[in-house]
Amino acid sequence: MVIQHVQLVSFRNHRQLNIDTGARVVLLLGPNGSGKTSVLEAISLMSLGRGLRARTMDEITTHSSIDDERGRHDYLYPKSWSLALALADDDILTVECEKGKKSGRSGKKVCRLNENILNSSEMIEQMRVLWLTPQMNTIFIGAAASRRKWLDRMVYAYFPDHALDTIRYNHYIKSRLAVLKSHYVDHRLLTLIEEQLAPIALRIEMRRGEILSMIRDKMVMLADEELGKKEGEFFRSLKLSMQSQVLSVIASKFKDQYDLSSPAAGYHTSAERVRENNSENCITNESMESKAIPNPRLSEKELLVLAAFLKAREGDKNRGYSSFGPHRTDLIVRDGKGVLSGLCSTGEQKVILLAISVAHASMISEKYKNTVLLLDDLVAHLDPERQEALLKTLLRLRLQLFVTTTEDDCKELMLRLGHDLTVVELAANPL
Ligand SMILES: Nc1ncnc2c1ncn2[C@@H]1O[C@H](COP(=O)(O)OP(=O)(O)OP(=O)(O)O)[C@@H](O)[C@H]1O
Ligand SMILES: [Mg+2]
Repeated sequence: MVIQHVQLVSFRNHRQLNIDTGARVVLLLGPNGSGKTSVLEAISLMSLGRGLRARTMDEITTHSSIDDERGRHDYLYPKSWSLALALADDDILTVECEKGKKSGRSGKKVCRLNENILNSSEMIEQMRVLWLTPQMNTIFIGAAASRRKWLDRMVYAYFPDHALDTIRYNHYIKSRLAVLKSHYVDHRLLTLIEEQLAPIALRIEMRRGEILSMIRDKMVMLADEELGKKEGEFFRSLKLSMQSQVLSVIASKFKDQYDLSSPAAGYHTSAERVRENNSENCITNESMESKAIPNPRLSEKELLVLAAFLKAREGDKNRGYSSFGPHRTDLIVRDGKGVLSGLCSTGEQKVILLAISVAHASMISEKYKNTVLLLDDLVAHLDPERQEALLKTLLRLRLQLFVTTTEDDCKELMLRLGHDLTVVELAANPL
């Protein structure tokens, strides 16, 4: 299995925790506040970003009320947190919080394989960590930004380059707005920025669409092969699509290639085809209605995106925000009756989340053998029939699964279903 052993030091409520996790399925069982989610959070730090709670690295260090009582100003004990994971091939992965160099700056996580410091891409090569938490249960009724973030995380796990693209996109879109907001608007500079933005924006949307399409295919496959009748029908009936300005612009020109009404986003153009387009479909400057001269190296589709950025300039200047681009995209999910996911019942929303996450995890585990899936509070809101159907499917995936629960019933069910299972019981957190 991917992770054989977990050691936490000064990590949230765990002053020192050592647990063996060398089974394919690890069930963390304990009362509220016993530190189950904290264990998952620790493992999730082996991915890009700040893990499943997305809080500052300093917040994680164990706060000690004993030190407070002694009147110390520095109430963190000891200086900072650390975690170590023993892997199957005797390698040890460690993550520590390096204190912020300037006062007031938050610490940064540093990851090592044995003694060697890993950069982000080396770190994600060690393991692909995916998760689903109860905070995500409201994702379909919240703002589009959280769905977009979720979708992007699913894309990074498959296409690691997507992370760099989103960072670069955010940088250029901010620079564009800063130029638009300045007293004198330099249109030549804007064109240079938008020429950088257009191919990145197109790539981001293509990859998002492609991942949605793959998830949709995988959901149908799981429905056909693994799930019972009721769950199978639910998985098969889900409709995933993207509300994307960039792809709408492309679709209006290339109607035959893009089917916007397709249930699985329908953007069948693969990343490879995007690259081909870049080299083949170059058009000349005359086809652009522009004050500025567009870069002739851009493909026809990229030029369409560039034209849309250009068209939005005046409105963006007046409104003070960027009205066009992948940062405005939303993920739309409907159930078999066509009801928007945000209107579905609490339990149905949870099953939709699980259906997408399980299909995605299955897809990732086929590409990367070291996939770890963290499911926090898995069975809450699920009726017993659904619990069993989903758990059966989860247990068949070729990945390491960590599940938390407060319920003994879940333990009984997993013991009945699971072949390679470790149950870790965590004690109540002493005050
Ligand atoms: N930095 C910190 N230092 C000390 N304790 C902390 C820190 N951050 C969180 N805690 C405490 O850690 C405990 C464990 O939290 P965690 O969310 O992991 O529990 P849990 O077992 O998942 O509970 P639940 O079943 O309610 O989800 C909580 O009591 C919380 O107050
Ligand atoms: Mg929890």
